[in-house]
Amino acid sequence: MKKAIYPGSFDPITNGHLDIIKRAACLFGEVLVAVISNPEKKPFFSLNERLKMVKEAVHGVKNIKVDFFDGLLVDYAQSAKASSIIRGLRAVSDFDYEFQMALTNRQLSPNLETVFLMTDYKYSYLSSSIVKQIARLKGDISGLVPKNVAKILKKI
Ligand code: PNS
Repeated sequence: MKKAIYPGSFDPITNGHLDIIKRAACLFGEVLVAVISNPEKKPFFSLNERLKMVKEAVHGVKNIKVDFFDGLLVDYAQSAKASSIIRGLRAVSDFDYEFQMALTNRQLSPNLETVFLMTDYKYSYLSSSIVKQIARLKGDISGLVPKNVAKILKKI
């Protein structure tokens, strides 16, 4: 059974992330959504809040597990016995960052393959930062994030 990791900050999880998770779950025996504990950019939501939102959003979707990690992704992937890393690609602007990360991870762990899934066009503009900005300015975020996340964002 092939196991893949879908790592990220998920600050918060969006419908774009959820779409990638569900599609990855059709390709792999198990998808482990791995929430980074201390991302480089200081997160708005705490690790526990981000984890809770991800767990609720994927509830009921088969062959998906949720966990958190710290340190190098390749070390975590090895300890979780995953053979692939899943990343979503939106626009060309994602490419440099994703290319650098994929090649770095391959250098560190040659057997760990990064698999890119192209975003659904509906979510090609969507990011956690945009969603937080809209929520702060009291805009409508329904349709951009799962319902449990929308409830929380309405209070910020
Ligand atoms: O959702 P994000 O913020 O784009 O996710 C980035 C993430 C968590 C995948 C990336 O920052 C990461 O893997 N961090 C762990 C540290 C690491 O392994 N660095 C070396 C590879 S660049």
